[in-house]
Amino acid sequence: MTDSGRTASRTAVLVCQGRAAAHGRAGTDRFSDPVAAELLRDAERTAVDEVRTAAVPKGRQERTRYESVRACAEVVVPRTIAIDEALRTHATGQLVILGAGLDTRAWRLPELAQTDVWEVDHPASQQDKRARLAEAASRLRSPGEGDGPSAGQGEPTGLPVLARSVRFTPVDFAVDDLGTALDAHGHDASAPTTWLWEGVVPYLTREQVRATLAALAARTAPGSALVVNYQAPSARVAAGRLLTRLLGSSITSGEPWRSLWQPGQMGALLSEHGLRVVSDDDLLSLAYAFAGPAHRRASLRSGRVAVAERA
Ligand SMILES: C[S@@+](CC[C@H](N)C(=O)[O-])C[C@H]1O[C@@H](n2cnc3c(N)ncnc32)[C@H](O)[C@@H]1O
Repeated sequence: MTDSGRTASRTAVLVCQGRAAAHGRAGTDRFSDPVAAELLRDAERTAVDEVRTAAVPKGRQERTRYESVRACAEVVVPRTIAIDEALRTHATGQLVILGAGLDTRAWRLPELAQTDVWEVDHPASQQDKRARLAEAASRLRSPGEGDGPSAGQGEPTGLPVLARSVRFTPVDFAVDDLGTALDAHGHDASAPTTWLWEGVVPYLTREQVRATLAALAARTAPGSALVVNYQAPSARVAAGRLLTRLLGSSITSGEPWRSLWQPGQMGALLSEHGLRVVSDDDLLSLAYAFAGPAHRRASLRSGRVAVAERA
């Protein structure tokens, strides 16, 4: 718990567990996240290992936790591939990740070598991430465990950063001014920016989504792009979340969904802010496109990735 009275995001950990579980097992070489496991603590890695080895645990709570990580692993594969590809296509020298959580791109994507990355997140979540990076660094450097990839490199944040820089920028979208925070951390509003907003929109109210979009649009120079992942309404997904809560998972109960958007509504909102949607795909279609016709959850259909450009 931080001074602001809010604890670090647990859904950010779940998404990271999903990426760690899917690493090397996604059925496609277009997905890979070797860094995710480094950001997890021992107990969190247990569930990941269970999913990776399909070792279904017995207890009800353990089983629910297992299913959450397994479902999340399915969601993050198409979402990550689509977003990574959009970031490559819309590369600028500035990448602002809104609600970064345990995002690993600054430590994972060599294509960011010429890009400064701003990791914007709620102060409690950001503090937690920085602690995890430090823990990963000390694990990798501890004697008897051999030389990890960052051993001896003296990275202040632990794992080797592949981006040109990472600038941690604490912002609570509910109360803070995004523009002021980015100014204070050296973001250049007059230069093109690639914005990434992944897995955050559902946790914000419609007003907070509008306010955040207005703030970023005010700093979006020509040549910029926004990659936004959002959730469309779905009775099936709502029922699944309710069931998970009833079965005892407290992961999602502390972070309820507050806004769902139909693609048309999201497109209209982006266009009000001068951003023209160039693609908007559901995760189920992306999963089929990226990894072929394996069994896929229909619930993937309500998650979407849209890319919008400012001409
Ligand atoms: C599900 S996690 C997604 C993290 C990351 N983008 C990913 O996809 O792995 C949701 C993130 O939204 C952030 N978030 C939720 N509400 C927020 C708020 N009011 N202000 C800032 N960040 C917020 C949380 O701190 C958390 O990092």
